[in-house]
Amino acid sequence: MNTARRLLFVLLLLSYLFKYNTYLMKFSTINLVYFSPTNNTKKIARSIAKGTGVCSINEIDLTHLSKSSIEQIEIKNQLTIIGAPVYRGRISEDAAKRLKNVKAENSPAIVVAVYGNRGYDDALIELKNIVQEIGFEILSAAAFVGEHSFSGKNKEIAHGRPDKDDINFAIDFGKQSYEKLMSFTDFTENKNLNIQGNFPYKTNDKMPPLSPVTIEEKCTKCGKCVQVCPVDAVKLNHKIITDKTVCILCGSCIKNCKNNAREFNDPALKKMIGNLFVNCQERKESEFFL
Ligand SMILES: Cc1cc2nc3c(=O)[nH]c(=O)nc-3n(C[C@H](O)[C@H](O)[C@H](O)COP(=O)(O)O)c2cc1C
Repeated sequence: MNTARRLLFVLLLLSYLFKYNTYLMKFSTINLVYFSPTNNTKKIARSIAKGTGVCSINEIDLTHLSKSSIEQIEIKNQLTIIGAPVYRGRISEDAAKRLKNVKAENSPAIVVAVYGNRGYDDALIELKNIVQEIGFEILSAAAFVGEHSFSGKNKEIAHGRPDKDDINFAIDFGKQSYEKLMSFTDFTENKNLNIQGNFPYKTNDKMPPLSPVTIEEKCTKCGKCVQVCPVDAVKLNHKIITDKTVCILCGSCIKNCKNNAREFNDPALKKMIGNLFVNCQERKESEFFL
């Protein structure tokens, strides 16, 4: 190799290393964006982030931002994990609405839908589409199982999940997603993922107005249910009042009540929970698409 060729080779190598280093630097912080009334999505998103090995994590919890207080969130040049729960085979409407306040540029996303061991139908593909619409490039996608929002003492559905195996699976998924990102010098090289689900998405009938009720004898009016409701449906005004037209049945007030003073008592809802309990006992495994 003559000197000119050697010099050219060194210059090319240096320019490649510079470009790759700039690319690596770009992903030294991860954003976690999630809506998670009963915390399963949050746990999974955090485990995926752990798997990437990136230490600097910026959490954007959309759960308790009431509609009025959501400002536009801008994300530029940053890896982002986006998680939402599955409600009736779709992404929770509130998660979808709140995600539309995020705008991204030049940023790869790992998307994760969390469901209660019945099924996730079109939710993951819907989440992927929403996340692309707000400007992200999809890096990878996954569906994980978390304890069902309707799971209770006598009717346990996916009780205790995500468990140790789910968490390890999430860590491994994070690791593999990050390795995939690092295998590119420009993540727009990423090909389309073949995610399970259909478009047009499944449609659901409108739910009648329903909500948990308060068992007055057990209620100490501590206000925890008011504080944890992600849609401000619960108010404390001498006694606990729940606006059925606003409640999304997320189960957060029930699961957070230390005195077990909140419960679902609507007969049709109880029947549906009974059916879910019977039909969703067989363990479903989490899965990912890279
Ligand atoms: C209104 C509603 C509908 C739900 N629909 C489904 C469903 O279609 N399939 C399923 O497996 N789980 C379903 N779930 C259960 C949640 O997806 C599951 O509990 C999830 O772990 C909740 O996530 P979070 O803990 O982050 O809030 C539903 C829950 C609610 C409140």
